[in-house]
Amino acid sequence: MRKIVILTGAGISAESGLGTFRDAGGLWSQYDLEEVATPDGFARNPTLVHDFYNARRANALNASPNAAHAALARLERDWPGEVVLITQNIDDLHERAGQRRVIHMHGELTGALCAECGAHWQAPPEMHADDPCPECGAAATRPDIVWFGEMPYDMDLIEKHIVSADLFAAIGTSGQVFPAAGFVMQANAAGVETVELNLEPSELSGMFDARHEGPATDVVPTWVSHLLGTA
Ligand code: APR
Repeated sequence: MRKIVILTGAGISAESGLGTFRDAGGLWSQYDLEEVATPDGFARNPTLVHDFYNARRANALNASPNAAHAALARLERDWPGEVVLITQNIDDLHERAGQRRVIHMHGELTGALCAECGAHWQAPPEMHADDPCPECGAAATRPDIVWFGEMPYDMDLIEKHIVSADLFAAIGTSGQVFPAAGFVMQANAAGVETVELNLEPSELSGMFDARHEGPATDVVPTWVSHLLGTA
């Protein structure tokens, strides 16, 4: 039975009240990403960066999964083949909707990392620059988030899934940030059927075999019901 690989972006969490990055009023119009989402920004002002992610961690905690997250969890549960979900999002709404296989290529707000020794642990609700690492004691803890200029997680695994998929779907992403923006090209090169579900045309819309335009809470459940009807 067909293998479905899905990539999600901020658009799938928009209707849960979490801001996107590049829509009008998005996060990158409120904050300078150089200051809060780069290793240099963290080195310059770790407190500013922790404050930024503490606020996003609180938002995510207060948000609820929406019908699009629920539909993807249903697809994973009821689809007779393999479903692999790759997300650029750092919230845990997919997991809280019941999704079991989630690859967080940009890390997670629920994760903490020691910049000194590389230890990973469950992030507390609030993190501070002088929190000691539970492993090595260094005051070098950071959110376990992949910043601009850093290598996303699980890239080899992600490539394996994309080129071995029968269907690749990109949901709620503007296609402006690599390497995620390149996944549809890898899928096309491997002869994988591709579909985009997005509120409006993205940078990459022309690269997809098919498109469903509209809010995720509308187009994703419809798409999943159609797929399951064909299972
Ligand atoms: N339903 C579906 N799509 C939506 C909705 C919605 N309700 N609202 C917005 N969108 C779409 C927008 O049209 C846009 O194409 O979601 C996309 C959001 O794009 P971005 O804000 O660029 O978010 P994303 O593509 O996830 O950004 C990728 O950039 O800043 C980095 O690491 C960050 O993971 C992020 C990456």
